[in-house]
Amino acid sequence: MKRWKIIIIGLFVTLLYSCQPTLYLPSSPDASQQQQLLEGRNLYVSHCSSCHNLHFPKEYSKNGWEIQLEKMEYRARINDREKQLIYDYLTAQ
Ligand code: HEC
Repeated sequence: MKRWKIIIIGLFVTLLYSCQPTLYLPSSPDASQQQQLLEGRNLYVSHCSSCHNLHFPKEYSKNGWEIQLEKMEYRARINDREKQLIYDYLTAQ
């Protein structure tokens, strides 16, 4: 019976890990820009994942993200500054 428990726990852990978003971490040589990109990433994860899975930054072009953010700004209740930070993060790669 013990083996089953281990297998079930193992499956559960694997499941948890596979749900983790593999969003890239930004890296910029400029410290203040790095700070802003990280803030944008945090805002993106906290504001944009409540209704649907996060879309990968590479799914849309710069222009595409501008349009998507325009559509989602109201839904996510973000202000213009937050929108800009999210946009900068999404298009920095
Ligand atoms: C209150 C719920 C809600 C929040 C918060 C939200 N979205 Fe959405 N999002 C939706 C719904 C519903 C759709 C699908 C319908 C649509 O495209 O209008 C969608 C679709 C999308 C799509 C795909 C559109 C397409 O054409 O397939 C993208 C990209 C997106 N959201 C990005 C974002 C971003 C970025 C944020 C954060 C700023 C965000 N969403 C926050 C509800 C939300």
